[in-house]
Amino acid sequence: MSLKHLLSAADLDRATAIEILDTAEEMAGVNSRDIKKLPTLRGKTVVNLFFEDSTRTRISFELAEKRLSADVINFAAKGSSVSKGESLKDTAQTLEAMGTDAVVIRHSASGAAQVLAHSGWINGAIINAGDGTHEHPTQALLDAFTMRRRIHGAASHGKGLDGIKVVIVGDILHSRVARSNLLLLNTLGAEVHMVAPPTLFPAFPQNWNATLHYDFDDALIKVQPDAVMMLRVQGERMNASYFPSEREYSRIWGLNADRLPLLRDDALIMHPGPMNRGLEISSVAADHKNSTVLEQVANGVSVRMAVMYHLLSGERTHTDV
Ligand code: CP
Repeated sequence: MSLKHLLSAADLDRATAIEILDTAEEMAGVNSRDIKKLPTLRGKTVVNLFFEDSTRTRISFELAEKRLSADVINFAAKGSSVSKGESLKDTAQTLEAMGTDAVVIRHSASGAAQVLAHSGWINGAIINAGDGTHEHPTQALLDAFTMRRRIHGAASHGKGLDGIKVVIVGDILHSRVARSNLLLLNTLGAEVHMVAPPTLFPAFPQNWNATLHYDFDDALIKVQPDAVMMLRVQGERMNASYFPSEREYSRIWGLNADRLPLLRDDALIMHPGPMNRGLEISSVAADHKNSTVLEQVANGVSVRMAVMYHLLSGERTHTDV
């Protein structure tokens, strides 16, 4: 597998995606040991460049890098010279001058990771940790890893998600998680369904390789999904009114107590976080025995270790793990 950057879930062909998921299984083994550390990235410098807020992604990348023994620099736009007007180019060139092997970037602008990767300002690997409403490929990988583990268990190795039915629900218009998941789930052979109010579908949703639904109950009854992925309503990206009220949204589009009986007994309840409890997901669903919300967070560390390992460790075999 030869991958210099991870900018989009579309960068991953099926074999590469499965290879990363298999490596993440091995990393999960490392994470369950008393000493959760590998020497793989000793001597490499990784910068976490966060221009937008994050809890899960930022912390799990930092933990993943440290568990692989990289030197880690955390850069938050707040408190840096960005607040004095320094550009992305000058910030990137400053990092390059200090000798950086990889940059993990989160930015509110869609395409920021691509700009960094193709600008020539930085020679190292670029990993997209979420760019605007565009993509969040490591979130899609950790979601796929979570589904594969839960559904295939100990027999996961080498498998995709063939025939697995996933219903993605909510603010698809503003969701980089939905876009990256759609791409990766398609690559891994899953059957993708999307449910949203018409105002929260992107333009030309029929071009997406998914079945579209406008009625949540109807979709759950007809599809009988293996997993329901609830999306955060992204108020901070909304410059207009997309639904009548939060109460209406929660009643019609939320995974609430009234809707839970429509799910299969073994259906996974997923959410990338942060959650708006009481809006797109009720506490009874978020804290349900089938909820994978915290498992997704834990799996994020193993998956991000696997991604860093594939991008930065050069030629090696899995036995190096
Ligand atoms: N899922 C996710 O990206 O969460 P954070 O914004 O907390 O990183």
